[in-house]
Parts: sequence; C-alpha cells; structure tokens
Amino acid sequence: MKEQVEQIIDRHSHAEGRVDLVAILHEVNSTQRYLSREALEMIAQKLAVPLSRLYSMAAFYRSFNLEPRGDHEVHICLGTACHVRGGERIFDRLSERLGIGSGETTSDRKFTINRVNCVGACALGPLVVIDGRYYGRLDPLKAERLLEEYYEQA
Ligand code: FES
Repeated sequence: MKEQVEQIIDRHSHAEGRVDLVAILHEVNSTQRYLSREALEMIAQKLAVPLSRLYSMAAFYRSFNLEPRGDHEVHICLGTACHVRGGERIFDRLSERLGIGSGETTSDRKFTINRVNCVGACALGPLVVIDGRYYGRLDPLKAERLLEEYYEQA
C-alpha cells in the first residue's frame, strides 16, 4: 500500500512544485476503494500538508469514502416510482441478508449497500444498480437471488 500511495503522489507532483491534491485523493480513493487513515497520514507527511486539510477535502467531495467499500456497490433505488413499487421491501431484504445498513460494508468487504434516490430509469422500477449495472422489475426474492449470483462470482 505504501509504495502504491507514493507512486500516486509522485504522479501528481509536478516539476514546478505544484501538487494536485484532489487528483491524489481521487486516485487513492479509487485504487483502494476508500481513503484510509494510513494513506492520508502518508500523504500529509510526504507533502507537509495538515492531515486536517485532507480530511476536510475528503468530507467536501461526496465521491470520497472514508470507510472501506465492498467489492460490489449495491444501490437500491428508493425514488418515488421505485418506492411505491416496493423498493423499501427490497432494501429491507438485502439489508437483512447482508446484515448491514445503508452506507455500510459487509465485514468480508464483498458488498456495500446504499439507499439512493431516482437513478433515472423509473419505467424499470423497482430497481437495483450493482457496480453500475441496472437490474429492473425486481422483487425482494429476485433481488436476493441476484445478490447470491454476485456472491458466487466474488
Ligand atoms: S424512482 Fe427509481 S429509477 Fe426513478
């Protein structure tokens, strides 16, 4: 991990002394799937930037995660159209099956689930988006089976 973070820092540090902190945080966040305290401390130390500044940046941008994320990101749509067609029951089923709530990650780091608002495919509702793939017209049982398929792949 240390070597990887150092390479990322070097990649975004320019000859004239300019450092692109946001790009560094983005790349660490995407390669490690979150910004660990250890990684942030390394960046702070190497670039002589206050750790508190890095945490502020991480909190400002919604795309950064300060908690570990699962291999699979599951978004359960609870926008109005999906909600009235049973989106909440799907969320409850998956939440119970995985033993986690919205925004949480399973202890084996396989799945992170999130309640989300309309993802723009209301005609397919209720739906779940897993790793960017849309699965529509689900019910709790179909959604749980879908999860099992991802478990088998993992
Ligand atoms: S409400 Fe779920 S896609 Fe629009």
